[in-house]
Amino acid sequence: MRYMVKMNERFKDWKYPEFDEKGKVVILGAGGLAREVYWIFCDVNKAEGAWEVLGFIDENPANWGKSLCGIPILGDFQWFESANTKSEVKVICAVGSPRARRSLVKKAEQSGLSFITVAHLSVQASKYVDIGIGTVVAAGCILTTQIKIGNHVYLNLDTTVGHDVVIQDFVNVAPGCHISGNVMLREGADLGTGTVILQGITIGKWSVIGAGAVVIEDIPDNAVAFGVPARVVKCREQDS
Ligand SMILES: CC(C)(COP(=O)(O)OP(=O)(O)OC[C@H]1O[C@@H](n2cnc3c(N)ncnc32)[C@H](O)[C@@H]1OP(=O)(O)O)[C@@H](O)C(=O)NCCC(=O)NCCS
Repeated sequence: MRYMVKMNERFKDWKYPEFDEKGKVVILGAGGLAREVYWIFCDVNKAEGAWEVLGFIDENPANWGKSLCGIPILGDFQWFESANTKSEVKVICAVGSPRARRSLVKKAEQSGLSFITVAHLSVQASKYVDIGIGTVVAAGCILTTQIKIGNHVYLNLDTTVGHDVVIQDFVNVAPGCHISGNVMLREGADLGTGTVILQGITIGKWSVIGAGAVVIEDIPDNAVAFGVPARVVKCREQDS
């Protein structure tokens, strides 16, 4: 029963800012990914009972007061002011798009909120993994050794990350990706489901890789690439 291993014991060697602090959490976002992040907390709580997830934040007033998976959509960022909970609550961003995630994170930081990092208890990792704040590692991921993961990264289900990989801030990795050794995913890179990246490749900033791609050469910044082997099909607007 690997789920029953305590989070602190499993990941005690990660350079990981917040594992020892437990308490109240609010999830930023109220879509499918947000419900998946809630599930991670529920599973962690089966082992530790540590986190009280208060609800979701959603910009759309039509959703406020509704319930998702049995917990409420609380409101927008104003909710933190009215509930006067900023100091005792940690937040985690649960939206897939790296750009949308960056803008939510900015808002949260401007509101004086602080982030936590969470990994499902089924994640397997060596102790040589550095992981930033606000990052989510979903169920089934395997991280080997000498890996650096930045802030507000999302590693979705069943992804493997090889030795010496660097994953910068706001990167989004969809389910079932295989990231070989010495790969660099630059800020905001967005990998579609089932992407395979060969060893030593760099994916440029804010580039999108289509589902099922096999990436065999470096991809520049702000590109969209897909296929087997992956080819750049267009460039996106430069990120400011
Ligand atoms: C690559 C991607 C970003 C392109 O999106 P887009 O620019 O809107 O592209 P379109 O859907 O207009 O498709 C344009 C063409 O590319 C093809 N195409 C799109 N995605 C493709 C992919 N992943 N692999 C191969 N071909 C693809 C389409 O069939 C279409 O071909 P056609 O011009 O011959 O008809 C998108 O299709 C994709 O794969 N996104 C990742 C989705 C994902 O994994 N989400 C994870 C959710 S957890």
